[in-house]
Amino acid sequence: MDKLNYKDKLKMTSLPKHIAIIMDGNGRWAKKKQQSRSFGHKAGTKALEKIIKAADSLGIAHLTVYAFSTENWNRPKEEVNSLMKLLNQYLNQYLKDSKNSNIKIDVIGDISKFDKDTQDKIKQLQELTYNKSGLNLHIALNYGSRDEITRAIKKIISDATKSKINIEDINASLISNYLDTNGIPDPDLLIRTSGEKRISNFLLWQIAYSELFFSEKLWPDFDENDLYEAIFEYQNRDRRYGSI
Ligand code: FPP
Repeated sequence: MDKLNYKDKLKMTSLPKHIAIIMDGNGRWAKKKQQSRSFGHKAGTKALEKIIKAADSLGIAHLTVYAFSTENWNRPKEEVNSLMKLLNQYLNQYLKDSKNSNIKIDVIGDISKFDKDTQDKIKQLQELTYNKSGLNLHIALNYGSRDEITRAIKKIISDATKSKINIEDINASLISNYLDTNGIPDPDLLIRTSGEKRISNFLLWQIAYSELFFSEKLWPDFDENDLYEAIFEYQNRDRRYGSI
């Protein structure tokens, strides 16, 4: 049976402002095709491109994607190298395309672990797209929530020691301001592909009240209509934020 066309069913007045995605399943997708994991990641990049375009044309304000986690360094060297190569190709492409694109890009995570050239490209891309008015694309690179929260705590303590902040003023809002996502609204909707139902150290603080959508599709197969389906389901949930 053909899947419904979800785009026509969306209420354009109540779109999620911020969608976060755990793009999982590249490896399994490649294995099914008897291909290398790198082949799967490359296909994952193409799926990402489609979803960025779809989110932007729909008018979604923020999209955060989990591209490389603090734990991903533990993968075989060959796979880490191929992900780094892909990341650099991706950055080069975006640097080239940025003139004709309306997408604003920034990175969350600790980029100091990347080589200097990669760090420079990331900074350049952030600067070049800073004044763009379209989708805000946040790419999570060497990102892990526990690492992010640890870095935030260190900075809060350091600022308190220098009397830049008072301990009495530490509250949820101040903590949010010390996270990498400072200034970005919390995700309304978190999508994870590949049938796995876990959060894997992604935006733990920020997803306190997000709606979760788990797709059985492997990331390279996830397409525009799957995104619309997730948004459709989100629009039909009853968000109560702990109230009744
Ligand atoms: C999880 O699939 C995916 C990743 C660890 C990387 C996600 C990267 C992309 C979608 C490509 C875009 C990347 C960059 C750097 C711009 P998995 O490998 O864990 O799949 P598996 O669970 O099936 O093994």
